[in-house]
Amino acid sequence: MKVIVTGANGQLGTDLCKALHHFDLIPLTHSDIEISDMNSVKQVFGRHRPDIIINTAAYVRVDDCETEQDKAFRVNALGARNVAVACQELGAKLVHISTDYVFGGVGETLVVSHKSGGDKPHPYTEFDIPIPLSVYGKSKLAGENFVRHLCPKHFIIRTSGLFGVAGASGKGGNFVETMLKLARHGDELRVVNDQVFSPTYTPDLAKKIAQLIDTEYYGIFHITNSGTCSWYELAVEALKLVGLKTPVIPVTSAEYPQKAMRPHNSVLDNYHLRLLGLNDVRSWQEALRDYMIEKGHKA
Ligand SMILES: NC(=O)c1ccc[n+]([C@@H]2O[C@H](COP(=O)([O-])OP(=O)(O)OC[C@H]3O[C@@H](n4cnc5c(N)ncnc54)[C@H](OP(=O)(O)O)[C@@H]3O)[C@@H](O)[C@H]2O)c1
Repeated sequence: MKVIVTGANGQLGTDLCKALHHFDLIPLTHSDIEISDMNSVKQVFGRHRPDIIINTAAYVRVDDCETEQDKAFRVNALGARNVAVACQELGAKLVHISTDYVFGGVGETLVVSHKSGGDKPHPYTEFDIPIPLSVYGKSKLAGENFVRHLCPKHFIIRTSGLFGVAGASGKGGNFVETMLKLARHGDELRVVNDQVFSPTYTPDLAKKIAQLIDTEYYGIFHITNSGTCSWYELAVEALKLVGLKTPVIPVTSAEYPQKAMRPHNSVLDNYHLRLLGLNDVRSWQEALRDYMIEKGHKA
């Protein structure tokens, strides 16, 4: 079985290529294919004639998308359209990666701070209606819609807060690495505590995707590590694991303004996987411990 992975040298793409080593794998980097160009996509896919295409390629700089809206929609929406059209022409299965940031708009069932009381953030299932807050979220949702309408044999995978050894090439690393770097050089860290989500280790996500592509369980899947936390709690856990004592101060989103609005709650429920009896994804804390070892961070 021939499998194409776009964004193959990205954070998720790198671990997908490892998880799919038993397939006839064609890893494509940005220099091999431009997904926003229909001709490039058709030419490259036509040359390889894959059975499965996994599209991880995206414009992932959430704040920059606010000022570069055209680029966001060209890559994340039209790019997904181009991949879906070419995939459908070849009769191939399409795995398209999307995001928790398709949620969080009007109607968000948020609980102001999950630390402050007994309330828990309400997780979104695949059957909830997405309403994005940011240009990034809107462009990714538009990409999902193209995939759903143009390529019936699709798996749309929504995930969140990725960390993997390669680091996001589009973001120059990942949140965990940024926190460790700042903690090693600064007096204290100020980290947002009112945005709650499920951090996800890219090898765990890649393993689930490898399992799904053997099936015909088409549709939308939420795939994250289990458990939830805020960025503040993720930073605290990361520093604890490597023995850094730098103080971490919780702040609100209002105290740490960013160009793009982000959901207070973007916790994804792996509901589709659970309905199929396939939701055995471990906790983000266990995954983070393995990440630290894999990355060579020592306590
Ligand atoms: N990172 C997260 O926390 C997160 C959370 C939820 C969902 N996601 C989704 O997960 C997927 C993978 O994210 P990631 O963290 O692995 O990002 P990443 O490391 O930045 O990987 C994206 C890859 O896509 C390539 N690419 C970008 N634009 C392209 C284009 N127009 N044509 C072809 N290739 C292009 C990039 O190459 P260059 O760098 O060379 O341009 C890079 O290799 C994305 O779809 C993202 O939306 C990410």
